[in-house]
Amino acid sequence: MELTNTTAIVTGGASGIGAASARALAAKGATVLIADLNAELGEALASEINGVFAQLDVTKTEQITEVVEQAASIAPLRALVNSAGIANGIRTIGRDGQIASAFPLAKFTAVISVNLIGTFDMIRQAATVMSRNEPDANGGRGAIVNMASVAAFDGQIGQVAYSFSKGGIVGATLPLARDLSSAGIRVNTIAPGLIDTPIYNSFPDPDAFKAQLGSSVLFPKRLGTPDELASMVLELVTNDYMNAETIRVDGGIRLPPK
Ligand code: NAI
Repeated sequence: MELTNTTAIVTGGASGIGAASARALAAKGATVLIADLNAELGEALASEINGVFAQLDVTKTEQITEVVEQAASIAPLRALVNSAGIANGIRTIGRDGQIASAFPLAKFTAVISVNLIGTFDMIRQAATVMSRNEPDANGGRGAIVNMASVAAFDGQIGQVAYSFSKGGIVGATLPLARDLSSAGIRVNTIAPGLIDTPIYNSFPDPDAFKAQLGSSVLFPKRLGTPDELASMVLELVTNDYMNAETIRVDGGIRLPPK
C-alpha cells in the first residue's frame, strides 16, 4: 500500500513504539495524526514529522469519532496503528486469604478499557471511515496494525490483566480481518517482546524489572528498540499480502513465570 497523500493515525504515538512508528510512516509519505493523551510529547513529535497532534483518550468514544474524522479531512485515512497501552503488575489474589486483597477490579477494568476496548473502538470507527476510500490498484482501502504483546501467550505472574487485554487482541485479529475483508482493509497484530520504552516507568523499579526480563532474551540478549518495532509496523501497513496475522518481534524471548 502506498502512503503518499494519505493519513495514518497512530494512537499512543507520542511515546515509545508509537512514536517510532509515526516517524517511520511519515518518512514513507503519510501525514501522521498522533493521537495520544500526552500533549507535550505529541505536539513536539507532530512538528518534527510535519504531522498533526490530537489529544485523545482511547476510552472516550466521542473523541475517537473526532480524531478519525479529522484524519479523513486531511487526506484519505489508510492506516491505523493502535499503540496506546498501559500495564500493571498485580497478582490475582492476595496473600492473606481475604477477598478484599484480591486483584482490585477497577485496576483490571482500567487496563481492559485502554488496551482492549480502546483498540476495538479505534478499529470500528477508523475502519468505517476507511471503507469510504477509493480502492487502490489491489482493491485495498486501508491497513490496521495492533500492538499486542508476548504476554498474550506467555504472561508472567502479575500480568493477568495485561494478558487478558493482549490475548483479546490476538484472538480478535482473524475475525477482524474477516469482517473487514470485503471493505479491502487488512488487519495484523504485533506481539512485541521487551522493548525499551517509558512504559515500564509505572513499575516500582523499572530498571531492575527490565534487566531481569532482558536476561531471558534468546538473541540478541538485550531489549528491543522502538525502531525495530516500527520496521515491522511499516511492513504490515505496506505489504498488501500480510493479513490476519500476529507476529512476535521479540528476539526469541519466551517469558518465564516471573
Ligand atoms: P509507552 O508508554 O512508551 O507509550 C504508550 C503511549 O500510549 C503513551 O504516549 C501514552 O500517553 C499513551 N496512552 C496511554 N493511555 C492512553 C489512552 N487512554 N489514550 C491515548 N493514549 C494513551 O509504551 P510503549 O512501550 O511504546 O507501548 C506501546 C504498545 O506496545 C502498548 O500497547 C504496549 O502494551 C505494547 N507493548 C510494549 C512492550 C514493551 O516492552 N515496551 C512489550 C509488549 C507490548
